[in-house]
Amino acid sequence: MRPLITLIVLSMFAVPAFAWDGPQYWEAPTNEPEGGGGVWGTGGKSDFGISCTHCHKRPASMPTPSVNLQWSFNPPLEMVGGAQAYKPGQRYTVSVSMTGETLGFSNCNGNANNNGFGAAFELANGQRAGRLQSDWGQDSNACPPVLPSYVNSFGYTIPVTDGGTSTYGSCHAIASTSLENTGYRYFFWTAPAAGSGTVTVFWGAVDGNCDMNSQNDDSRSGTFAITEGT
Ligand code: HEC
Repeated sequence: MRPLITLIVLSMFAVPAFAWDGPQYWEAPTNEPEGGGGVWGTGGKSDFGISCTHCHKRPASMPTPSVNLQWSFNPPLEMVGGAQAYKPGQRYTVSVSMTGETLGFSNCNGNANNNGFGAAFELANGQRAGRLQSDWGQDSNACPPVLPSYVNSFGYTIPVTDGGTSTYGSCHAIASTSLENTGYRYFFWTAPAAGSGTVTVFWGAVDGNCDMNSQNDDSRSGTFAITEGT
């Protein structure tokens, strides 16, 4: 009996939990459990300054964050007067690696290591700067309102996530769909047209401890500027 129940319970929750326990929740209405109401928590103007770190609180034993993100752009960003700069209209592959991940599988029953990040590329006025494309096809130029999904035998709507990043809804931000401790994720960013000015990237990362809430997780948020190049 026991193994059967375990199996049923596991198959109900077999989808690994990501930010909001599933990439579809960023845009789910706030009157639904786990609904983010369109706030992706990047800390940008487009997210009203709300970041992962507002909700994801480190345990008392961890006074400073360990988790971090390493960013790399291909082709590399130019250096203009000592500052990172984008080439207007250039399409970049942006790779994001999580470093300093310490909270692993202890609470996960071997199910999944729940980590994630979100990022917004913003103009000074908070509008999305340029174009975001996930690694499996969502495109802010033809922004899909929802992620593809199916209804499983228990009546749960399960998003189909064939890639490591997604954007949808308002497409103001991009988030990882899953992030293991050794993994990295990538997406595409096309820089805005000449005359757009400095772009600021607002990001947040969470090293979840897999207890299905926002407490005792490691988290960090940050920003970096990309000035306009030529
Ligand atoms: C407004 C509060 C809030 C913000 C902002 C927020 N989260 Fe969460 N997050 C939650 C809650 C609540 C849960 C637990 C949901 C559940 O299990 O039902 C959660 C769950 C998670 C989990 C699973 C954690 C675990 O230990 O199981 C990850 C990973 C995560 N969020 C990543 C992020 C990232 C990355 C950001 C920022 C880009 C973010 N969250 C922003 C509230 C928030």
